Amino acid sequence: MTVPENRQFRLKARPTGRIERSHFDFATQPAPEPGPGQALVRVQYLSLDPTNRIWMSDMDQYMPPVAIGEVMRGGGIGVVMKSESDRYQVGDHVMGLTGWQDYCLADEGENAMAVLPANLPIPLSAMLGACGMTGLTAYFGLLEIGRPQVGETVLVSAAAGAVGSVVGQIAKIRGCRVVGIAGGEAKCRYLLDELGFDAAVDYKASDWREQLAAATPDGIDVNFENVGGEIMEAVMARMNLFGRMPLCGMISGYNSGEPMRADFSSILMRRIEVRGFIVSDFMDRFPAATQELATWYLEGRLKHQETVIDGLEQAPEAVNLLFDGGNRGKLVVRVSDD
Ligand SMILES: NC(=O)c1ccc[n+]([C@@H]2O[C@H](COP(=O)([O-])OP(=O)(O)OC[C@H]3O[C@@H](n4cnc5c(N)ncnc54)[C@H](OP(=O)(O)O)[C@@H]3O)[C@@H](O)[C@H]2O)c1
Repeated sequence: MTVPENRQFRLKARPTGRIERSHFDFATQPAPEPGPGQALVRVQYLSLDPTNRIWMSDMDQYMPPVAIGEVMRGGGIGVVMKSESDRYQVGDHVMGLTGWQDYCLADEGENAMAVLPANLPIPLSAMLGACGMTGLTAYFGLLEIGRPQVGETVLVSAAAGAVGSVVGQIAKIRGCRVVGIAGGEAKCRYLLDELGFDAAVDYKASDWREQLAAATPDGIDVNFENVGGEIMEAVMARMNLFGRMPLCGMISGYNSGEPMRADFSSILMRRIEVRGFIVSDFMDRFPAATQELATWYLEGRLKHQETVIDGLEQAPEAVNLLFDGGNRGKLVVRVSDD
């Protein structure tokens, strides 16, 4: 086999606001040769996530920031092209941290990539979305930290996005009243008409605070927080006593470089239980949860929506869609064919 070319985005400078192409070197070199215990993987789909922006910065975070000169970190799915490991067979689909590049090496041990079952009845990209890390984030944040009860009101922000859309659907499966906050009428209609939410609040409308009040006449029992800032504060001010708040993300602050703040008075007065989490906190329970998400998906109870961008070269500009609201559901880059 001739050695294929491997295009890679390497971080050149840390963004101070929006992500620009100039923050990266886009270089080409020969794909690496797998050593003993390794496999060569051709990347098919890259997951674009708000956390990519966090990893590019040097803010306090849950993993080391991507070093200057390092290949940009990113989750993805690929196919094994060559293997020197018993763990990986040629043709296997694997999932893990592929990085923003055409080819990567899969290792064994604690950094091993997950091998997906053969003949999966689920599209590969959905394994990055509703049935993958995105779905798991929604699943554990909502069910473990939010602990929603039948008939309770669950509110989720960034509701038409990857995690938010799954949160709302799981809350419906669990018999809750579900309210989503999203930007624009079209996304709000999508929540109501296609995902079965009970109410939607368009935070880009001038009367969004009134919409929020009208959508939550009995207050809010669980706030699945994805956005932070003034939306979070307005939601917390409508929470019921002893409400639960899984703090999943605060995307409104990621580009600002400023500390992400919250008003603690609502937490005290309403005795809200706030818990931040990272999906990997629940890693030992991923297999059973993935099985449940996949079952819901195959039964038609959980929809996977995605926004697909073609071409690795688009990755830096495409991440900005997450901050502009340009995506619906999971944002992925198709790097090469299935
Ligand atoms: N803790 C974890 O383990 C974990 C894992 C995955 C994701 N997350 C977090 O979960 C959140 C959602 O991530 P995702 O991957 O599902 O992305 P996403 O929701 O698919 O995309 C981000 C969405 O956020 C909304 N948004 C962006 N800036 C906003 C702002 N200033 N105010 C209000 N809404 C804004 C946009 O929707 P609109 O069009 O509605 O504005 C955009 O489509 C993020 O905060 C992310 O960091 C956490």
